Amino acid sequence: MSGSGTHPLRIVIPGGSGQVGRMLARFFHERGDHVTVLTRGPYTAPWTTVHWDGQTLGPWVETLEAADVCIHLSGRRIDCRYTARHRRELYDSRIGPTRLLHEAFARLAHPPRLWMNASAATIYRHSLDQPMDEITGEFGGNEPISRHRRAPEKWNWTVQLVKAWEEAFFAPPLPRTRRIALRTSLVLSPAPGGVFAVLSYLVRAGLGGTAGNGRQFVAWMHEADYARALAFLIEHEEIEGPVNLAAPHPLPNRAFMAALREAWNVPNGLPTPAALLALGMFLLRSEPELILKSRFVIPRRLLDAGFAFQFPSWPEAASDLVRQWKHRA
Ligand SMILES: NC(=O)c1ccc[n+]([C@@H]2O[C@H](COP(=O)([O-])OP(=O)(O)OC[C@H]3O[C@@H](n4cnc5c(N)ncnc54)[C@H](OP(=O)(O)O)[C@@H]3O)[C@@H](O)[C@H]2O)c1
Repeated sequence: MSGSGTHPLRIVIPGGSGQVGRMLARFFHERGDHVTVLTRGPYTAPWTTVHWDGQTLGPWVETLEAADVCIHLSGRRIDCRYTARHRRELYDSRIGPTRLLHEAFARLAHPPRLWMNASAATIYRHSLDQPMDEITGEFGGNEPISRHRRAPEKWNWTVQLVKAWEEAFFAPPLPRTRRIALRTSLVLSPAPGGVFAVLSYLVRAGLGGTAGNGRQFVAWMHEADYARALAFLIEHEEIEGPVNLAAPHPLPNRAFMAALREAWNVPNGLPTPAALLALGMFLLRSEPELILKSRFVIPRRLLDAGFAFQFPSWPEAASDLVRQWKHRA
């Protein structure tokens, strides 16, 4: 299966109105593929948008008939407090639409040949010592995170969420469709509203120092490589199952923040100890896990298949993102 202008693909993206979805839709649209985003709307774009509610079957099922690829990205944003209500929403907005898509696929005469479903690199354990790949990586739980402490219950909860998400995706048989779970790290885009924008704001305000003890690894990926990697996965029909979407060189938070400061030409940044970070994240209605958990994740399967990263290392990626940010501004 290939796409590029001469053999355009039909690509359907449920949940494709968000940060990653917009970027992917633009990428495939610009290379000549036919993109349809399923949205609870209202949402308009230069590509086709079709309404769905993410809960019930409807006319939207037709968009999947004989499509080449489905890329499912629905999910309530993870940057919130893990209250009982938010946990229910985080769970239902991922597992519900995944199950619904299985129902839809079962009704199709010609289902898409490839279904890629969002997943998250946070499925792996907090690791400072050993890289986590798809083959030997270990799932998180209540692993030790220091000599005296084990992973907090909230970290374990997100791991269980991602495991349930992948289980809902992989368990039902689907003999005519290749399936890939996208174990995604932080996707960094030079656009307002995303993680790169937040980190850049902190750096420019002089607050972009080391977070916690700074030893925790950051798994990240430049948005250009994310889109290119999905195009690569579409072409490589031998690849199925879970795939880590992360740059090959994750790095400790201390070095990550230093490189970002350098890219912005800001010499210093106020460090944030773990206790202060917990307070700050509470005030921002988010969770410190997003910054303190060590995600030492590497893209073994992409590398083994020969994927060439345009931005394998963070300093070059950070410089490029800052350059694009300034250009847009
Ligand atoms: N961005 C990252 O760095 C990252 C990292 C790891 C994993 N992921 C995962 O990748 C996926 C896409 O990420 P993103 O950053 O693009 O997310 P996003 O900006 O929050 O967009 C996700 C989309 O999901 C839809 N949605 C939200 N709540 C929903 C619900 N209750 N039912 C059905 N649909 C709902 C929304 O579309 P409509 O309102 O148009 O329906 C929204 O545009 C998510 O599942 C996320 O967890 C992202």
